[in-house]
Amino acid sequence: MKTLTTLLLCGLLFSAPANAGVLEDKNCGSCHRLKVEDTETIFTGPDLHYAGNKFQPEWLKQFLINPEVIRPAGFVTDPGFLPKTDLPPHASSSEEDANALAKELMGLKISTSTPVTSEPLTKGLRAKIKYQFERTFGCISCHQSLNLAGKVRGGISGPSLVNAGNRLQADWVSDWLKAPETYTAKRRMPNYKMEPATLDQFTRFLMTLKKENIK
Ligand code: HEC
Ligand code: HEC
Repeated sequence: MKTLTTLLLCGLLFSAPANAGVLEDKNCGSCHRLKVEDTETIFTGPDLHYAGNKFQPEWLKQFLINPEVIRPAGFVTDPGFLPKTDLPPHASSSEEDANALAKELMGLKISTSTPVTSEPLTKGLRAKIKYQFERTFGCISCHQSLNLAGKVRGGISGPSLVNAGNRLQADWVSDWLKAPETYTAKRRMPNYKMEPATLDQFTRFLMTLKKENIK
């Protein structure tokens, strides 16, 4: 029993400072928030202290090796806006570093979200939500997405969603739509207060958006 307690305590001690490793070595924290408690600094890149809730590990790894543009207009910080032209291209990492960085990022979590339905949408339901995405809720005015012909379209003031299905975790997407304040205090996206069924369908719709469907 005593050994078990000691083992458990050691486990806690070793797992506690999840971001005191390669993320720190590579100075990722100079632009990204990596710790929940770091609320004072103004960062020039998106928050990563909940990366383990938000991203799919394989996408993270590929992004770090071969970074792509997600926010075509630039990154919105508080209090200002950094246009894309002010930003240097994102640094790329070797495969070995990317593996280590992605692993550490996946360990940064702030919440456990309620799991969503993973069943694919029927064709009819997908068309209905796509209509709502564009017309009823106007998501398309701020987010790039794919039209039925597989062409990229939409506004650029929010992050691109053309690859949401490979990039984001379904549970996180649902949580973001339900309670964005969990993840960011000052957000620019409206809170739609969707009915649970609509929320579930929107999440499943966003998960169908994948880069390989671009034509
Ligand atoms: C000079 C500032 C800077 C540094 C240093 C930096 N980043 Fe970034 N990072 C950014 C910006 C700005 C973006 C947003 C790019 C976009 O949206 O197109 C970004 C995006 C990301 C994303 C995607 C996040 C999202 O929400 O889409 C990840 C993951 C990431 N960076 C990881 C890292 C890691 C790991 C390191 C350290 C090896 C690092 N970054 C170093 C500025 C930086
Ligand atoms: C007025 C512009 C605007 C509208 C309309 C809007 N969003 Fe957003 N959305 C944003 C911005 C900006 C962000 C980035 C976070 C922030 O700054 O609040 C975001 C973030 C997101 C994210 C997280 C993406 C990421 O990589 O961090 C998802 C998912 C999302 N929006 C889905 C939607 C859906 C679904 C709708 C419609 C129901 C919608 N948005 C409507 C502006 C908008």
